Formats: sequence, C-alpha cells, structure tokens
Amino acid sequence: MARLEGKVALISGGARGQGAAEAKLFALEGAKVILGDILDEEGKSTEAEIKAAGGDAKYIHLDVTSEQDWDKAVKEATSGYGKLDILVNNAGILLRKGIEETSAEEWDRIQDVNSKGVFLGTRAVIPEMRKVGGGSIVNISSVAGLIGSTSAAYGASKGAVRLLTKSTAVQYGPEKIRCNSVHPGLIDTDMVHDIFSNEERMSNRIAITPLGTFAEPKDVAFAVLFLASDESRFVTGSELVIDGGTTAK
Ligand SMILES: NC(=O)c1ccc[n+]([C@@H]2O[C@H](COP(=O)([O-])OP(=O)(O)OC[C@H]3O[C@@H](n4cnc5c(N)ncnc54)[C@H](O)[C@@H]3O)[C@@H](O)[C@H]2O)c1
Repeated sequence: MARLEGKVALISGGARGQGAAEAKLFALEGAKVILGDILDEEGKSTEAEIKAAGGDAKYIHLDVTSEQDWDKAVKEATSGYGKLDILVNNAGILLRKGIEETSAEEWDRIQDVNSKGVFLGTRAVIPEMRKVGGGSIVNISSVAGLIGSTSAAYGASKGAVRLLTKSTAVQYGPEKIRCNSVHPGLIDTDMVHDIFSNEERMSNRIAITPLGTFAEPKDVAFAVLFLASDESRFVTGSELVIDGGTTAK
C-alpha cells in the first residue's frame, strides 16, 4: 500500500521548490494534495505535472498571511476531498540581513510570512483534524531556527516556528494531532539560487558540510513524507535536521 493512501494533504508554498517536491511525492504515495501559493502560474503547472503523472492535486491561491485564504484552503480540502489529514507549513521567504541593516517593515514581513503564517495555518486546520480523530502538521523551519546566523529576522522567524511546533505538539497530542519541525540546511531551490550559481560560495558551503555535498528538494521531501505518514505515529514535538551534518559540529 502507498504510504499516504487515503490521506488528504494541504501544502503551503507548494508551487515550486521543496513544497512542489513534497506535493509530487505525496501524490505518488497516494495522497490527494491541495497546494497553495501566491505564484499562481507555477502552482497551476505543478498541479498539471502531478495530474499528468496520475496523481490527484489541486492548486489554490493561498497567501499564508491571510486568515481568509486559509479558511478557503481548508474548505477546498473538505468540500473537494471530504476531510484534511496533513498540513505542511512550507511557505517561507528569506532576508539575508543583520540586525542593523533590517528595517522594522522588513522584520514584520518576515515574521508575518514565516511565523504568523504557520500559526494561522495550524489554527485553521485543527478543527478539521479533530473531526477525523487526528492528523499530522509538519512545519518547515531551518537550521537558522536552531543556531545563530547573520540573517536576523529570518533566524528569529524560524526559531519561532521551532517552538510553536512544540506547543502544538503538547497542546494537541491528546487529540492525536502530531506536529514536528524540519530543519533543512542548504537546499538547491530558487530561494538560494545566488549561492548555487556562484562556484566559490558553493565550494565554501560544501567545505563546511561533513557529508561534502548539498541537498536537493527531494532530500527534504522524503523526511516530510515520513513525518506526514502514520509511520511516525509516535513522533511529535521533534525536530528533524537535514543539513549534511553542518550543525553537528
Ligand atoms: N532552500 C534552502 O536552502 C532552505 C533552507 C532551510 C529552510 N528553507 C525553508 O524551506 C521552505 C521552502 O523554501 P524553498 O527552499 O523551497 O524556496 P522557494 O523560494 O523555492 O519556495 C518558497 C515558496 O513559498 C512561497 N511563498 C512565499 N511567500 C508566500 C506567502 N505569503 N504565501 C504563500 N506562499 C508563499 C513562494 O512563492 C515559493 O513557492 C521555506 O520555508 C524556507 O524558509 C529553505
């Protein structure tokens, strides 16, 4: 049996990058997938790719900072597929600036998308997961949510996601709603295209990575698949680091 057979999953930021890789893998493993994003064209083409491969997917416009958009996304899942079992809070934006270079507006924008977006998504899906007797929420944080970095607002937003994950796990464990965070290191997506397109920066990053390589979106997607599936039924409040060993040092 496929690993997500019979499950309905909502993935934010699913148009491209890691979110799209998760959507494709989830569909291959039998899930019905709703992918939400603000990049409508890319989202629709990811939906089409999944369908062409025989999967079941639907793209919807979802700005994770909008309560109304979250309500619509949850309704789309329940009216179209009858229920909601899985949420991947994957949408995120990066700001590579230190404390003195960051404006108050930039700070707010990063917290709004990366941290408040996760809160709004979590709050929106809990009632539906309660109705089906449980569920799995996977929050995409970062290694920047575990250790200090020069990206002040981004690190703070991802640290918030790490602890919101544990609060969700503690509060909703008795209702069998699990919640775990995932902490990727450098992954080859548009978000960090500038690093991957610069040979010197790439070789510096590889040099500090014990596994001596970089990761692709599917390396994160396989971990998210495990946490989303019932295989991880006793795992909640945990943090799964996918960084080639960088933060082990
Ligand atoms: N790429 C990396 O090296 C890396 C490392 C650690 C963590 N992450 C995290 O992984 C997640 C996925 O990022 P990615 O690497 O695939 O980058 P990406 O830029 O390709 O994907 C991010 C997606 O989020 C969407 N998004 C941005 N703002 C949104 C909003 N307001 N509402 C809905 N969607 C929105 C984007 O449109 C995009 O599709 C992010 O949370 C990111 O912070 C990335």
